[in-house]
Amino acid sequence: MQTELSKQLGVEHAVFGFTPFPAVAAAISRAGGFGVLGAVRYTAPGDLERDLDWIEAHVDGKPYGLDVVMPAKKVEGVTEADVEAMIPAAHREFVRETLAKYGVPELAEGEVSGWRITGWMEQVARRQLDVAFDYPIRLLANALGSPPADIVARAHERGVLVAALAGSARHARKHRDGGIDIVVAQGYEAGGHTGEIASMVLTPEVVEAVDPLPVLAAGGIGSGQQIAAALALGAQGVWLGSVWLTTAEADLRSSALTRKLLAAGSGDTVRSRALTGKPARQLRTEWTDAWDAADGPGTLPMPLQGLLVAEAVSRIQKYEIDPLLGTPVGQIVGRMNDVRGVQAVFDDLTRGFERAVDRVNRIAGRSGT
Ligand SMILES: Cc1cc2nc3c(=O)[nH]c(=O)nc-3n(C[C@H](O)[C@H](O)[C@H](O)COP(=O)(O)O)c2cc1C
Repeated sequence: MQTELSKQLGVEHAVFGFTPFPAVAAAISRAGGFGVLGAVRYTAPGDLERDLDWIEAHVDGKPYGLDVVMPAKKVEGVTEADVEAMIPAAHREFVRETLAKYGVPELAEGEVSGWRITGWMEQVARRQLDVAFDYPIRLLANALGSPPADIVARAHERGVLVAALAGSARHARKHRDGGIDIVVAQGYEAGGHTGEIASMVLTPEVVEAVDPLPVLAAGGIGSGQQIAAALALGAQGVWLGSVWLTTAEADLRSSALTRKLLAAGSGDTVRSRALTGKPARQLRTEWTDAWDAADGPGTLPMPLQGLLVAEAVSRIQKYEIDPLLGTPVGQIVGRMNDVRGVQAVFDDLTRGFERAVDRVNRIAGRSGT
C-alpha cells in the first residue's frame, strides 16, 4: 500500500494511525504504518517527554508523528479558572443529579480528574510542541483548524510535514492556504469531532479542492477493502483512529469499556456535544442520551462543556458505571469484534487490500496483483 506520500515519509504502508496511546503509536510504525500520538491529554509537565522517550526507545527507528488540538479561535489570557466561572449553576446541578441517579462514587480525597480540557488551549498545545520539536517527529497534525503560521514555519524549518483535519472542502482549502502539507479529510462516520459529510462524498471533494496536495481519507475505515476504496477515490493514504482502541497494545484502563466496544454495532454511536461542546462521535450511552434529551439543560459551548463534565467522565470511567461508560469511537466499531495486536490488524488490512484490488482487476478484465 505505497503512494508518493508513504514513499516520501519512508513507510511501507500509506496507513496513518491516530492514537492516544504511545504503545499503539510505536506498534503502528513498527508494523510499517505511520503512528501519530495524540497529545491532547498531556497537560502535566514531563508527561509528554516521558512518553516520547518511550516511543523513541520502542519504534525501531521508524518514523512517527504528533497530533495537537489547537482550536482555530484564539482565546487570549483566559485561564481554566476563568472558564470554570462561566459554567451556569443549573448545569452543575444536572451533572450532580445524573451522577447521583446512577450512584457514581466520588473520586478519592485529593485525587484529580485525569481528564482536563487545557490540552485544547493554544498555550498548552504550544508547550507540547516546544517539547515535541526536540524529538525527531516527521509529522505534526492539528485537529481543530489550521495551525498558526509560526507553528507551520517552525515545523517546516525542522523538515516536519504539517497535516490538518478537515470535514469539508471549504475547510480543506483554508488549510491549503495556511501552507499545510497534508489534508486529513475526516467524514461523518469517524470517531471524535466530525462534520456532517460522509467519507464517500467528502474524500473526492477534498482531493479535487486541494489538488495537488496529498489527502488522507479518514472516517469509517477498518478494512483493506475500505483502504482500496479510499485510494480509488484519490486519497494518498488513510488515517485510522477507532480500530486501534481494541488492540492489545491499547491502554483503555477499563475492561468494561473494551467489552462494550467489542459488543457495539455500527449503529451504536452518536454524534453528540455531550463530551466537548462540539459534535463528536462516541458510543451512545445513557450519559449522551441524558445530555441530548429534550428536557435536559442542553450542552454548553466548547470549552465550557468539556470542563463541566471532566470530573464526571473520570468518575464514570474509574468506577466503570456501565450504562454511562463511553468513549469517542466511529461507526467502524461494528467491525471491532475481537482484541488483536496491531501487527495482526495490519496483516488483515494488507490481505483485504490485496483481495479488493484483485476483485477490481478481475472486474476490469485485467490479471490479478
Ligand atoms: C478515542 C478517539 C480520540 C480522538 N482524539 C482526537 C484528537 O485528540 N485529535 C485528532 O486530531 N483527532 C482525534 N480523533 C479522530 C482521529 O484522529 C481520526 O480522525 C478518526 O478516528 C478517524 O475515523 P475512524 O474513527 O472512523 O477511524 C479521535 C478519535 C478517537 C476514536
